[in-house]
Amino acid sequence: MSNIGNYEERYKTFDWSQAKEHLGYSEGDFLNIGYYCSDRICEQGKADKLALIWEGPDGTLKRYTFADIRVLSNTYAKFLKDLGVEKGDRVCIFADRIPDLYISLLGILKLGAVAQPLFSAFGPESLITRLANAETKVVLTTRKHVSKVRKIKADLPALKHIVIVEGEPKKMGEGEMLFNLEAAEKVEEFTSFAADLETPSLLHYTSGTTGQPKGALHVHSAIFAQAITTRWVLDLNDSDIYWCTADPGWVTGTSYGIIGPWSLGITQVVLDAGFIPDRWYKFIQDHKVTVWYSAPTAIRMLMKQGEEIVKKYDLSSLRYLASVGEPLNAEAVHWSRQAYGLPFYDTFWQTETGSIVISNYPGMEIKPGSMGKPFPGITATVLDLKTHEPVAEPGKVGLIALKPGWPSMFRAYWRNEEVYKSKFDKGWYICGDRASIDKDGYFWFVGRDDDVINTGGHLVGPFEIESALLEHPAVAESAAVGKPDEVNMEVVKAFVALKPGHEPSDDLELDIMNFIRKRLSPLAMPQEIEFVSSLPKTRSGKIMRRVLRAQEWGEPVGDLSTLEND
Ligand code: WT7
Repeated sequence: MSNIGNYEERYKTFDWSQAKEHLGYSEGDFLNIGYYCSDRICEQGKADKLALIWEGPDGTLKRYTFADIRVLSNTYAKFLKDLGVEKGDRVCIFADRIPDLYISLLGILKLGAVAQPLFSAFGPESLITRLANAETKVVLTTRKHVSKVRKIKADLPALKHIVIVEGEPKKMGEGEMLFNLEAAEKVEEFTSFAADLETPSLLHYTSGTTGQPKGALHVHSAIFAQAITTRWVLDLNDSDIYWCTADPGWVTGTSYGIIGPWSLGITQVVLDAGFIPDRWYKFIQDHKVTVWYSAPTAIRMLMKQGEEIVKKYDLSSLRYLASVGEPLNAEAVHWSRQAYGLPFYDTFWQTETGSIVISNYPGMEIKPGSMGKPFPGITATVLDLKTHEPVAEPGKVGLIALKPGWPSMFRAYWRNEEVYKSKFDKGWYICGDRASIDKDGYFWFVGRDDDVINTGGHLVGPFEIESALLEHPAVAESAAVGKPDEVNMEVVKAFVALKPGHEPSDDLELDIMNFIRKRLSPLAMPQEIEFVSSLPKTRSGKIMRRVLRAQEWGEPVGDLSTLEND
C-alpha cells in the first residue's frame, strides 16, 4: 500500500493543516528547517540512523548519522555567527556536492540566515549576476572554485568573507579564510533561530531557460509542503535508501535532496560525480537504492546506452522511480518499464512552487506522457491564452495556473517586484507553461509558453513533436523550434542527436520523417531535420530551445549564463 493511499480520496479531504500535523507541528511551535532536519530527528530516537552516505569522485565513502548532521550543522551555524552573519543575511554555498554543502545549508538556516546555493560549474559571469543581485555577504566555497569568486570580488561591495571549506589555496587573498569542518571544534548545542512561518530560508535562482535568472525567495514553512510531498509522491518510508540525482544548486536538490528526506528522517545517498551510466548503475547496486528521483535528460541518456548495460547490474533494490524538470516522454516510461521493470512517475513543479504541484502517484494509473494530477491542497487549472479564464473543454490547450496559498510557494523574486507581480492574474499564479487537461483530469504538457510554435496561426507544442521523434530507434534527443516562414509565419524545424552507431544521412532523415508522419498532425510535421551532435542545454539539463530558435531567426540569444558548455 502506498503512503498516499487513494489519490481521489486524499484530494477531496486534504487541507494544509494535515501537512503540519504530519510533521508533528502545532500552531506556535518552534520552527526552523535546520532544526527540523537534524535535532528533531535525533529527538525522535533516530540519532544513530544514517542521514547521508556520500560517495566522492574517487569512490571515497563518508557516512553521517543524524547526530553527526546535528552537531556539524551546529558547528557551521556557530562559525557563521561568530563571523558576523545575522538573520536575513545571504550566505552563498558554491561547491561541488561535498558533504559540507548539505551540512552548511542546515547551519545557515539554523542561524536564521538565507541560504543561496549556486551550481559549482558556474563561471564568473553567472556568479556575478546572482551574487550582486542578492547582495550576498559570505560565500562558502572550495579551493577548486575560489578563483571564480576572486575574479569578481572587486565588483561585489556587499561580499565580506570568502570562506574556503575544502582544500587550501597556495595563497590566500584579502577577505579569505579557511574553515575545516572535520578539524573544527564541534558545537554540541546551538539554539536555532525561532523562525516564523514567513521567515526567509532559501534563495534559489531559476535555471533561466528564458530571460534573466530570477531569485525565488522561499520561507521556513515550505517544509510542510516538502515533507508531505516527499511522503506521498516519492512514497518515502523509514527503511528507504533514497537517491535524488539533482544538485542542490537547483531547487530539486534542496527541496527533495535535503529538506524533504531529512525532515522525515530518511537515509539518502549522494554521488559527487558526473553522469557516467555504469557508475550510476553501480551506485544503485552498491547502496541498494530503493527510491530514485531523477530527470528526463538523464533518463534519455540512459536510454541511449541501451538495455544491455542495465543487465550487468543488480538493480533489484529499486522499488519506485520519479522524474522532474522537463516533460517525460511516453517512450521513456515504456523504456523504463522494460529496462528496470518499473515506470518513471512524472512530477511537475518549479523553483517558484518549491514543491511538487502536479504529479503521478503510486497507486494511480499512469497515462504515459501525462504529468498526472494536482497534489492534494493544490488547485490547478489551465487558463485561456487571451482571457485568462479557466478553460472548460477537456483537451483544450491553455496556461498552467495555480491558486496561490500552499506553504512552499515563493514569496518574492529578489529585488524584482515587477516581474513577480506579472506572474499573477485574476487570482491565479501563472506558471509560464502550456498544457491541456483531459476528461479524467490528467494534465498533458505542451511546452513552455515561449517555446510554443505558431505555424499559420496554429499553436504547436514542441513536446509532441519531440516525443514522436524519440520513438524512432535512431533518435537519442531532439528539440523542435519554429523557424521563420513567409507564408506560415513559422514552420517546425527539428534538431536531432543520434544514438551511437547511427550516422546522419538523407536516407535517415527521410526515414525519420516517414516514421513521425504517422504519429503527428500535418501541422506539427517538421519541414526540416538538422542532425547535431548535441543540443544546447542549461546546466540543470533542460533543452534550451530559445537558443536554437534565435539562431534560426538570426536574433540575439539573450542571457546564456546557465548554458552548459563543457
Ligand atoms: C520548469 C521549472 C522543479 C524542479 C526542476 C525545475 C519544466 C518541470 C516538468 C515536467 C514538463 C516540466 C517546466 C517548468 N518542468 N517539470 N514534469 N514536465 N515540464 O525547476 O528550473 O524552475 O523549471 O521546468 O517548464 O516551468 P525550474
